[in-house]
Amino acid sequence: MPNPWPPTDAPLDMTNTVRIAPSILSADFARLGEEVRAIEAAGADWVHFDVMDNHYVPNLTIGPLVCEAIRPHVGIPIDVHLMVEPVDALIPMFAKAGANIITFHPEASRHVHRTLQLIRDQGCQAGVVLNPATPLECLDHVMDQLDVILLMSVNPGFGGQQFIPSTLAKLRQVRSRIDQHVADGGQPITLEVDGGVKTDNIAQIVAAGVDVCVAGSAVFGAPDPDGGYCGVIQALKQAGK
Ligand code: DX5
Ligand code: ZN
Repeated sequence: MPNPWPPTDAPLDMTNTVRIAPSILSADFARLGEEVRAIEAAGADWVHFDVMDNHYVPNLTIGPLVCEAIRPHVGIPIDVHLMVEPVDALIPMFAKAGANIITFHPEASRHVHRTLQLIRDQGCQAGVVLNPATPLECLDHVMDQLDVILLMSVNPGFGGQQFIPSTLAKLRQVRSRIDQHVADGGQPITLEVDGGVKTDNIAQIVAAGVDVCVAGSAVFGAPDPDGGYCGVIQALKQAGK
């Protein structure tokens, strides 16, 4: 049964800590089931699933079959980040494979509004992903259609890159757009950031108004002695308080 996760309206969890979405791009692909079970056991909030097509971005990763394979191993939401062009054909496939959240880059869709509608029609939460150079104006006419706004804090395509500092100002601007939207009676929208998030910069990222931080190399590059990820995930949440 796909999409077992009931969508939440709450931008922060009950303990008021930032939510962490480990990117399995940096996991051991030969042991993906174990890896996703380990991050959930360590307190991860979402599984971040990076889909790259060697066309929209110069790298090639994983598709719906892998999403379907990991789905029974975790109860937390699977957050599918599509770095593909074109976008639409993959959406029903990922929804069927158990995705809960699907985000895409607006430059990669001819009809952004239609793509957002398609994601929601499939029972998933929908979001757009803004690259470091993508202006915020692309949000102007789709705020009502969004469950998530994901800001890239690196250029998409690879894990392990450095956080781009100008993202902080952009995050603050999106936070105030979301807050204004909600104050005007709009639906809640989760603000997510992706790229270069570490224990030593997460505090300032959270202070800029983020709800969910993707972290790939920071999590999978710092296993506990037993191979789990409790230490690093709790350290990220603690530093982000
Ligand atoms: C980059 C991906 C990111 C990336 C994050 O295109 O979207 O999710 O894996 O990795 P780190 O946390 O290592 O920057
Ligand atoms: Zn990503």
